[in-house]
Amino acid sequence: METEILWGKELARKTIERVAQEVAALQARAGRPPGLAVILVGKDPASQIYVSHKERACKQAGIRSLSRRLPATTSMEEMLALIHRLNGDEKVDGILVQLPLPPHLDPSSIIEAIDPTKDVDGFHPLNMGKLALGEEGMVPCTPKGVMALLDHYGIPVEGREVVVVGASNIVGKPLSLLLVNRMATVSVCHIKTRDISLYTSKAEILFTATGVAHLIKREMVARGAVVFDIGISRMGDKIVGDADFHGLQGWAKAITPVPGGVGPMTVAMLMVNTLEAYKKRLEMVP
Ligand code: GUN
Repeated sequence: METEILWGKELARKTIERVAQEVAALQARAGRPPGLAVILVGKDPASQIYVSHKERACKQAGIRSLSRRLPATTSMEEMLALIHRLNGDEKVDGILVQLPLPPHLDPSSIIEAIDPTKDVDGFHPLNMGKLALGEEGMVPCTPKGVMALLDHYGIPVEGREVVVVGASNIVGKPLSLLLVNRMATVSVCHIKTRDISLYTSKAEILFTATGVAHLIKREMVARGAVVFDIGISRMGDKIVGDADFHGLQGWAKAITPVPGGVGPMTVAMLMVNTLEAYKKRLEMVP
């Protein structure tokens, strides 16, 4: 069996191109481009790379990027004051606080302070609540990117046995909800699951988002399954996913590579969410 490679990189490029065209068309009427404020606190090396990818995508999409790089010593009061300022700034359509934050900053209170209509990460309790109710306001970028890849490659989920490994607030939980909303039969595995093989080996579509390098090996996957690898970790000097990509060649029906799979889709969906927030804001002003 030839294993199909599901390239997110290519779809992400096309998606950002489409956002750029729409931004160009709207901009004249709006009198301003969309604005995205990315807040990075401290010097976490992975976060610095992610934020630079987001800035590059903004440039490609014609979105004005208003990044704030703050010292690791930034206080809770300073963070909340900044968010309130950005909430009230008419030129800002999207606000994103890069996670993880330094331990003295409480991410829940910070995320709750963001205006839900500017919450382009979709992490605000109102947006997460809508997702749970099947209303889908602003949807978190990585799960949204996974759904876009499923649609692009024509992989249906309705009625399928699907398994999500990882139950994080950023990926596993919102992805599970999106899949339930699409009428998949969803099992969620996590750190306390006694035997994840029991579940993964039954999956028609397997989604893994743990950050444990090569956790998912061939013997844990059903022959002909589709594997979405949403994990990212370092192995020596290489970036690898949760799945043993090479071991699954000739076994899985299709697989997303790391890098070049889901990762670029996350950034592309951030551009889509910012465009959506911008369009809603334009409707609000006469
Ligand atoms: N850290 C890892 N993934 C994400 C994400 O999607 N959004 C934010 N804000 N931080 C992250």
